Amino acid sequence: MKKQMVVVAGFSIALLLTGCGGGTDDPGPGGQSMSKAALGAMLYKDTNLSEPAGQSCETCHSLDLLAAGSGVSARGFADLNSTFDAPVSPGAVTGVFGDRNAPTAAYAMFAPDFQYDTTTDPANPRYIGGQFLDGRAVDLVEQAKGPFLNPKEMNMADEAAVVAKVRDAAYANMFKQVFGASSLDSGNEATAYNQIAEAIAAFESTAMFAPFSSKFDAVQAGKATFTDAEQRGFDLFKTTGAGKCAECHKLEKSGGSSGVLFTDFSYWNIGVPQNPNNPAGTTATGFTDIGLAANPNLVASAPASGERGKFKVPTLRNVELTAPYMHNGALATLEQVVNFYNERDPKNCYGSAVPFVDCWPNPEVTDNLDVTFSGDLLLSAQDEADLVAFMKTLTDGYFTP
Ligand code: HEC
Ligand code: HEC
Repeated sequence: MKKQMVVVAGFSIALLLTGCGGGTDDPGPGGQSMSKAALGAMLYKDTNLSEPAGQSCETCHSLDLLAAGSGVSARGFADLNSTFDAPVSPGAVTGVFGDRNAPTAAYAMFAPDFQYDTTTDPANPRYIGGQFLDGRAVDLVEQAKGPFLNPKEMNMADEAAVVAKVRDAAYANMFKQVFGASSLDSGNEATAYNQIAEAIAAFESTAMFAPFSSKFDAVQAGKATFTDAEQRGFDLFKTTGAGKCAECHKLEKSGGSSGVLFTDFSYWNIGVPQNPNNPAGTTATGFTDIGLAANPNLVASAPASGERGKFKVPTLRNVELTAPYMHNGALATLEQVVNFYNERDPKNCYGSAVPFVDCWPNPEVTDNLDVTFSGDLLLSAQDEADLVAFMKTLTDGYFTP
């Protein structure tokens, strides 16, 4: 079964045909049907589903493979073109931009539904999961409904307009085979729009989006060994190490995954400074990204004030490929990221010019700032370099699990 999932990743025609046959629907890691996933791949890559045409999910979450057949995206399923200077992705309309740096779409399938979790640790209830950096979409299906209609992204007029384009698409027959002969008929737009999102979510739940094929995984499987620097970095990374990274980028498996995800999908404010290059502006010009506090699904017992400035802990898989970093792309390199965690507080220097290194401006949001696990780690330059070496072992495509 594994082999077959990898084939889907490579968009093999043979598999697409098998998928269309509809008879043998092998579930992928997320339990989805393979024909639905193959349809989802078509939708994910369709640049006609934007207004004007030209942008697809793939534009901002690249599928360009590192090597033919490797199944591993050269940009880790994030935006091919974003940098510190241009940290957010342009929308379909020229001159229009979102206000966040596109995160990877890989491993997103393992995030639990957005919820206020009072059971895992009753003494410390907290929000976990969801899609988007503030969890405002409860799951992958709800997430996939967002970009088409977002004026800062694909800018389609409404659900019916998206369905109309799918009705005229080359893969319309495939859609009808998966969801029924009348699925795209007029009158069925609301259901069809949901099915579009379902198919995309099925594609995002295939093995291609969770290869677990990094050097880290190979070491875990006893098939490779870390260099000395990587091993020192790993030791620093652990909760027992001076870097404390694993307090949030967890080393336990979760969400039914077969490998470590480097996140428990919880929310923290680690004090990332504003990116002066964000087209949305800065607090001085009226834009502050308050993160989780803007999520419309917060519960009354844990209101927005306690969540200002918090963002979902991202996976660190393929992080070598996904610069710039953080919700606003404020940090350009992994070296900067580690220096930020190490010296955010002792080297605070409000108003400093970019690039930020060895001198950290105030957080974008100062409320709820974590000072227990981040900000003043007393790491040496060697420690910082070792942590970077360790993070570079998280790039998929190192071996075949
Ligand atoms: C214009 C660029 C752009 C396009 C097009 C786009 N995205 Fe995104 N995507 C983003 C950004 C930016 C975010 C983070 C937004 C936020 O947190 O508010 C994001 C977030 C996500 C996430 C959540 C990841 C996580 O860890 O929470 C997923 C999954 C995703 N996108 C999939 C898709 C799919 C599927 C499509 C097509 C239907 C799509 N994206 C189209 C830029 C884009
Ligand atoms: C207190 C929780 C916490 C700790 C401890 C922590 N992180 Fe993070 N990390 C986060 C959160 C939350 C984000 C996202 C912040 C944002 O987008 O503004 C993040 C983002 C990152 C990113 C950027 C990923 C991306 O795709 O943009 C990297 C790299 C990273 N952390 C590495 C580390 C390392 C290395 C350590 C240890 C030195 C560490 N983290 C410790 C919570 C934490």
